[in-house]
Amino acid sequence: MTQRFSASPSPRPGTPTHRAGTPGTTALEIVVGCKVFVEVKKEKKDEAREFRKAEILSVRTHNDKPEYYVHFVEFNKRLDEWVGLERIDLAKEIERPAKKRNGKGGNQFRDSDTSSRVGSPLREVTGRSGVGTTVGQKRKISALEDIPTPNAKATTPSTPLVEATGEDYEDGGTPGNGTPLGPLAATFSKEQEIERLRTSGSMTQSHSEISRVKNLERIHFGEYDVDTWYFSPYPQEYSDAAVVYICEFCLFHYISERQLRRHLQKCTVRHPPGNEIYRCDDISFFEIDGNKQKTYCRNLCLLSKLFLDHKTLYYDVDPFLFYIMCQQDEFGCHMIGYFSKEKESTEGYNLACILTLPQHQRKGFGRLLIAFSYELSKKEGKVGSPEKPLSDLGLLSYRSYWTEVIVELLLEMKELNEDITIEDISARTSIATTDILQTLQSLCAIKPYKGQQILCLSDGVIASYHKTKEKHKNRRIDESFLKWTPPHFTSNQLRYI
Ligand code: ACO
Ligand code: ZN
Repeated sequence: MTQRFSASPSPRPGTPTHRAGTPGTTALEIVVGCKVFVEVKKEKKDEAREFRKAEILSVRTHNDKPEYYVHFVEFNKRLDEWVGLERIDLAKEIERPAKKRNGKGGNQFRDSDTSSRVGSPLREVTGRSGVGTTVGQKRKISALEDIPTPNAKATTPSTPLVEATGEDYEDGGTPGNGTPLGPLAATFSKEQEIERLRTSGSMTQSHSEISRVKNLERIHFGEYDVDTWYFSPYPQEYSDAAVVYICEFCLFHYISERQLRRHLQKCTVRHPPGNEIYRCDDISFFEIDGNKQKTYCRNLCLLSKLFLDHKTLYYDVDPFLFYIMCQQDEFGCHMIGYFSKEKESTEGYNLACILTLPQHQRKGFGRLLIAFSYELSKKEGKVGSPEKPLSDLGLLSYRSYWTEVIVELLLEMKELNEDITIEDISARTSIATTDILQTLQSLCAIKPYKGQQILCLSDGVIASYHKTKEKHKNRRIDESFLKWTPPHFTSNQLRYI
């Protein structure tokens, strides 16, 4: 069995402790908090070896060998991983953890990412990216591993939209599903959690050191095995197995494939609980009330935490609505991604968390989710903005969506020879004026002209708009398929006690 250490492991016979150069490092010197140079996983066999500076977050022995959980400095936390000594450049001198003034050791549990904490000032979108980068630095987007995805079998269903039964899913017998679990459950009381949710919008996150180390390697979800990115508070026993088996329809989770198989024999669910409010071709959206479908929504939050680091909510799901995007085939509605939305947002947020499951990323689904969130805002007659801070991928996706929508409208206005103001753009798109301004600034589209400011699009911006539009032409939200009236909640329903 794997033994875990939070400090340096004892030397074992056969453990390499060589000094490969000057000044050199030994395995014994590599402890939590120090920085070493670690070889980056090659994407192609013939690629040259590349080493990056990385901080040691944890140490364990695995098969009698030391292993180090490393965070690559200035890179997103999703690239954190366990590495063996063979990937560490022992020839380079290590940076030791700074001694605290009280002499009590290093900085092993200092948060090195830029995750904001609940209650901290919200961050602006512009100039700042999400996790793993700091202000003013060039944002580095990881090369995400390409996860092979089989072609989805597309059908256009002719059945009426699905209506919610109003019942929450019941567990087939696994104690873990739907209950506050894992180390975080012990860290946060429900009262504290609700207070945080009330005072800060919607999100909570752990800043305990335990969450710095990823606890699961993989999820098994439908026909996919997906590598996880971040810590999520699944039950402790799941961490030993390192894989969690999830029913893709009801989101119940299991510790073994056998347990999941047994569940699948009984599980008759084929779509998320809730009303199907949109269906166009093979894409459907289901609206789920966190107050009514607590188990499903909590399991969804546990799942999404594996890929969303900087913010997420765990078990107080009452104040939120969840919009699940599915792709239909003859077997059912397969979840592609989702976003959550506060039932009432005092800050004017129209989206709290957004996720495309990794196996479906970079195919335009994130854009569809974002577009859908704005369609809802249009129906509500409101302007909205995503909750901050945005992650690096969130910022990229929003920037891309805002750019396309704004440039499209400006070109339309030019064609009609009509003037348009920032406020007009906001009223027509439901995009907040601050987001419009920041997008226009990023496009260098605001120019001084005869004492005032005008909007002007460069040829490059127009060319790239046409290219992106072409790319997205097959996947768009058609608002005529949205069957939805904005839900209204009484103040009593919004008390969440
Ligand atoms: N590298 C570079 N560009 C990327 C990447 C990437 N890894 N991922 C997305 N993009 C760009 C795309 O190129 C695209 O722009 P384009 O159409 O102009 O080329 C744009 O972002 C959107 O791409 P989609 O394929 O529509 O988005 P996807 O389905 O991959 O989903 C999302 C984007 C939801 C952000 C996804 O990456 C994700 O779930 N990430 C993990 C969770 C997360 O970070 N969520 C956002 C948190 S912020 C918040 O919740 C408010
Ligand atoms: Zn199920």
